[in-house]
Amino acid sequence: MSEAESLPRIGENAPDFSAVTTLSKDFGFSAWQEQDWVVFFSHPADFTPVSTTELVEFARRHEDFKKKGVKLLGISVDSIHAHLAWLANIKEKLGVTIPYPLVADVDMQVARLYGMIHPGASPTATVRAVFVINPKRVIRALIYYPLNAGRNVDEVLRLVTALQTADNFSCATPVNWQEGEKVAVSPPRTVEEVEERLSHADREIKDFYLTLKDPKPST
Ligand code: BEZ
Repeated sequence: MSEAESLPRIGENAPDFSAVTTLSKDFGFSAWQEQDWVVFFSHPADFTPVSTTELVEFARRHEDFKKKGVKLLGISVDSIHAHLAWLANIKEKLGVTIPYPLVADVDMQVARLYGMIHPGASPTATVRAVFVINPKRVIRALIYYPLNAGRNVDEVLRLVTALQTADNFSCATPVNWQEGEKVAVSPPRTVEEVEERLSHADREIKDFYLTLKDPKPST
């Protein structure tokens, strides 16, 4: 089986692992996570331009993630020495402190566990993967970007917000949804559910399968 085939998928448990990070000599993923959501993202290499912009943007939005109960965790197959030198350089040249841990994964064990090595893109570097992991350590979403295209951190935050909203209000979020907008009532599975959903005066009912409502607890 290739590394890409072994990637953990949506609905599966996020693999636990131990590692060295920029903030801890003996980091254990599950103990560190506690009861929080996690955005676990990989970058191809330290001291590269696109990855630097991503690291800095995740740092800039760190408080926004924290307010939603989300911890950030970065990883690449660079050494802890490279990570520390890079972070020091970012602080010196850009004035930004990276407040979340970066996993050093020189032997690629964690990257392989998470299917972050895509040999067609590079056999020696992680692609730009994002794993959104819920407090029960279940993978709720995956995003993969290639080496030469930076991610949109707003979109990662929007995705976490959408997942939390779907959980809290038993709903789904429509295309381009933003926090505060109406959400979609999940598709009906029985005749009774079809009739039930047509009975709500406070909903925007286009048809039985396309109904929007304000995000609030189900009545
Ligand atoms: C970058 O992060 O800038 C980068 C890394 C690997 C290949 C191309 C760009």
